[in-house]
Amino acid sequence: MYTHQQQATLTSAHVTGPLPGPRSAELLARQERTESNARTYPRHLPIAIAEGSGAFVRDVDDNVFLDFLAGAGVLTLGHSHPELVEVVAGQVRNLSHGLDFPTPAKDAFVRAQLSMLPPGLAERMKVHFCGPTGANAVDAAIKLCKTATGRGDVICFQGAFHGSSAVGMALTGLVEQKRPVANGIPGVHFFPYSYCAQCPVGLNPETCATNCVQFLEHSLKDPLGGIPLPAAVIMEMVQGEGGVVPATIEFAQTVRRVTRELDIPLIIDEIQTGCGRTGTWFAFEQFGIEPDVIVASKALSGIGLPVALIIYNKDLDRWLPGAHTGTFRGNQLAFAAGAAAVEIIRRDDVLGNVRSRGAQIARLLAPLASNPWVREVRGRGLMWGIELADPDTGRPAGRLARAVQRNALERGLILECGGRDDCVVRLLPPLNITVEIVDAACELLLAAIAEQSAMAERRTTTDAVR
Ligand SMILES: Cc1ncc(COP(=O)(O)O)c(C=O)c1O
Repeated sequence: MYTHQQQATLTSAHVTGPLPGPRSAELLARQERTESNARTYPRHLPIAIAEGSGAFVRDVDDNVFLDFLAGAGVLTLGHSHPELVEVVAGQVRNLSHGLDFPTPAKDAFVRAQLSMLPPGLAERMKVHFCGPTGANAVDAAIKLCKTATGRGDVICFQGAFHGSSAVGMALTGLVEQKRPVANGIPGVHFFPYSYCAQCPVGLNPETCATNCVQFLEHSLKDPLGGIPLPAAVIMEMVQGEGGVVPATIEFAQTVRRVTRELDIPLIIDEIQTGCGRTGTWFAFEQFGIEPDVIVASKALSGIGLPVALIIYNKDLDRWLPGAHTGTFRGNQLAFAAGAAAVEIIRRDDVLGNVRSRGAQIARLLAPLASNPWVREVRGRGLMWGIELADPDTGRPAGRLARAVQRNALERGLILECGGRDDCVVRLLPPLNITVEIVDAACELLLAAIAEQSAMAERRTTTDAVR
């Protein structure tokens, strides 16, 4: 296994001055003048990146950071994994773009994708290549299910994120982002998700039998429920952008049972959870369910080259030639890298590493239970979130989470925030990180949380005195 120490030209985090450094500040200023107001990541992580290597990035001022964002979960094997770099270099000399013609690279990639499915499922499934973003694959999944069922409505869940296309956004919970773009697409219905840290139906999670999902079952089966039989239900097994919220097993299994009973195709969005992120190839494997449609993208190439697809039950294959086209559906570099990435993940037992490093993170973050500003620490595999909330009011502590993110950056650790008011500090590292890297990252994170929550505590006390 290529550990990060072996593969990386960058091996430890160090930040030498205030952020952004002078060169980053120059590029950030030019970006502000030339690029859209809708840009996101550099607003909270103000650096310009010069180089990525393994689990580290170096900014243009020579500060080195541990990258626990990893291209928003794209870089399963870290930045510029040497074997994948070789594979991509070989492929680019041969063929880089192939529309949707069959090619040896694509053939190997499709076989690799199907080989990740649980036994028996692959034979029942087909693959469709989409435009190269997750959102485009979500669009395709919805079109497929609408065509196959002849129905128009779609069920999704509060807290969900399915992308920034018109359809993806319509199925996404983010009210603030949807508000300026009125009337997304019609026929979308949101139901509560099993977000037990803040129960969406106001019950005590200790005693409740996942009642939120009973509301869905009842609504769909009630002749006066108001929703025509939908074309699809779309669900994440762990809501990533929604704040790293795993579904409960009972919730997931009830959604599957009800959709089967009513003959509604179940789309599982594995864009963020797929390719081993949660410790199994697909997250749905851990919930004892099988989807009718799987949406996958992000980590498929292992090295950040864009590719997206849906894998779906052959019975749904009733759409017409050209039903979902797109020029960029034949990225041979992504195919070659993706097939090699699957081999490397198997050879190096990267899934085993995800489970062990996940358990290590759980152990290292356990002391946070005694911090009154930490509502919950939760995760699966290498997808973790620390939800912060005001201990007095119970309100999401988004400001604190952003302060932790900034403090961690200054210490040399890149993190993302998500969830309600961005109150969840998120960890999404490469899947082949080492014990030492996890130790180092958690030390930085715990220090950032301790410092910032103590400051929040002092602010609260001062406000109370005033
Ligand atoms: C679960 C999920 N679905 C869809 C998307 C959208 O993917 P993309 O940004 O590639 O369009 C994302 C992106 O974060 C995601 O996490």
